[in-house]
Amino acid sequence: MNRDRLRQALEFYRDLGVTDVYRVEAPSAVEVEKVSHELTPISTDLAPAEVTLPSLSPDNDTLEKIKEDIGPDCRRCRLCEQRSKIVFGSGNPHAKLVFVGEGPGADEDAQGLPFVGRAGQLLTQMIEGTASKEGIPIRRADVYICNVVKCRPPENRTPQPDEMEICGQFLFRQLMTIKPRAICALGSTAAKALLNTKDGVMRLRGHWHKWRDIPVMVTYHPSYLLRPYNQNAKREAWDDLKKVLHFVYD
Ligand code: URA
Repeated sequence: MNRDRLRQALEFYRDLGVTDVYRVEAPSAVEVEKVSHELTPISTDLAPAEVTLPSLSPDNDTLEKIKEDIGPDCRRCRLCEQRSKIVFGSGNPHAKLVFVGEGPGADEDAQGLPFVGRAGQLLTQMIEGTASKEGIPIRRADVYICNVVKCRPPENRTPQPDEMEICGQFLFRQLMTIKPRAICALGSTAAKALLNTKDGVMRLRGHWHKWRDIPVMVTYHPSYLLRPYNQNAKREAWDDLKKVLHFVYD
């Protein structure tokens, strides 16, 4: 594995929160390399031994292949226990814009599609309403929509870090396959998964961030905007979306 591939692989693992990798020196000897949390920029000073990292981002990856790898009955984490349907994602596989939510709710779990409940209807209105007002000819079907975790957390609780880490590998593959011009992170779980930050939405929203080389705009989750006392946030979310749509489609 050359240094560029090694750097890419380590960055990929770091984004997933993995801090230990194993270097195979000889058929029987295994040495543990500590890849510290402070690994920025990531170190490429490892000795040129073969590093055995399973490819989480295969060449020529496709959404179909990712779906196939998740499998029809994924049991990688506890979220499998109460889910009805795995919610992979939907929309244009060549979308210039991807929206990332937190995880399926009850309606999504029943239908196997993301953002089809009340929050989803608001998201559709936000996308199509803002686009039409700004003279940008796109509909919801032109973007891609998915979540950090693909199975509904019981009682709609926030996904736990290990669940985000396990399912995050599939989200990252989806994003790398689609290669959108921008990503819109809906709410703090999506922001955390993509930006590896503890900052909240109020602090992050309205500015551009990056996941790999892809610009990321964080905004409020539509469920938050549905609460009656959050009407100011609605205006801000519309502003954020306007920014994203002009950036992507102008
Ligand atoms: N909330 C989310 O975060 N995702 C969905 O798909 C639906 C509601």
